[in-house]
Formats: sequence, C-alpha cells, structure tokens
Amino acid sequence: MSNSDSMAIPEIIKLPRILDDRGNLSIIEELIHVPFKIKRTYWIYDVPGGERRGGHAYKKHREFIVALSGSFDVILHDGKKEFRFNLNRSYYGLYVPPMFWREMDNFSTNALALVVADDSYDEDEYIRDFEEFTQKRYGE
Ligand code: TYD
Repeated sequence: MSNSDSMAIPEIIKLPRILDDRGNLSIIEELIHVPFKIKRTYWIYDVPGGERRGGHAYKKHREFIVALSGSFDVILHDGKKEFRFNLNRSYYGLYVPPMFWREMDNFSTNALALVVADDSYDEDEYIRDFEEFTQKRYGE
C-alpha cells in the first residue's frame, strides 16, 4: 500500500490471495490492506438490471469497495474529472477517499458489492447534491 499522502486519491488495492485447490481465500485487515480502521461493513446485492446506486459524497468517511461476486463500475468524480473503475475480481478493491462524488452502475446479475467503512452510518456525512459538493470541495 502507498504512503498516507497518496490516500487522498482513489486507488485500486490488490488484496492477498491464498490459492488453494479447495478454493481460494482473500483477506481485508484494517490498517494493513485498507488505510483505515474498519468500523462498519455493508453490502449491496439484488441490484436490478440497469439500476444505479450512490449519487453522493462523504465529507470525511473513507470506504473500500470489493466486488465479492459479479462485476460493477464505481464512478468517482472530484468535481472536475470523472474516474470509472470496473470491479470484477474479489481480490481487488477500490479505496474511496472523502469528498469524491460516487456512483455505481453496470451491475452484473448476482453482483455483490462489499463496502467497508471507517465510521458509523451518519446521514450528516452525506452530500447528496452535486452542486453543493463542488462548492464544498473547491470553495467556489
Ligand atoms: P446510501 O448510502 O444512499 O446507498 P447507495 O450509496 O448505495 O445508493 O444508503 C441507502 C439507504 O440505506 C439510506 O436510506 C441510508 C441507509 N443506510 C443505513 O441505514 N446504514 C448504512 O450503513 C448505509 C450505507 C445506508
């Protein structure tokens, strides 16, 4: 994993893989494979074809997203530029820093998105208006 300075930008992180004829195993340990302590885990599943998730930014929360099964895209926007990540392996995850507008789309059938987060759910952490997000990010 890179040093803490680079943690202000989104990053694909490769997780360990313990390959085994009986089936493979991967791991996420806080502060080792993700650059934060893990407070909360949730998952997104049964997404109907063509649906989108997200449409918000977090003020301070950091997250790490893994496609445990199937595939989907995570689109991150810094207010100026858009970055699209296709997640399709259970041993790669996307680190999402605070203050990135985030959407998820292109879910395959049976896609399962695991999200680990550094803090508890708090609706006050959300910015759900893109204009407000860009204003807050760049102080315009
Ligand atoms: P939201 O984060 O907006 O979903 P997504 O970004 O995937 O579209 O959350 C959807 C709803 O679920 C919202 O009403 C808040 C609730 N929720 C919780 O109660 N706890 C949680 O940890 C999360 C992530 C969401």
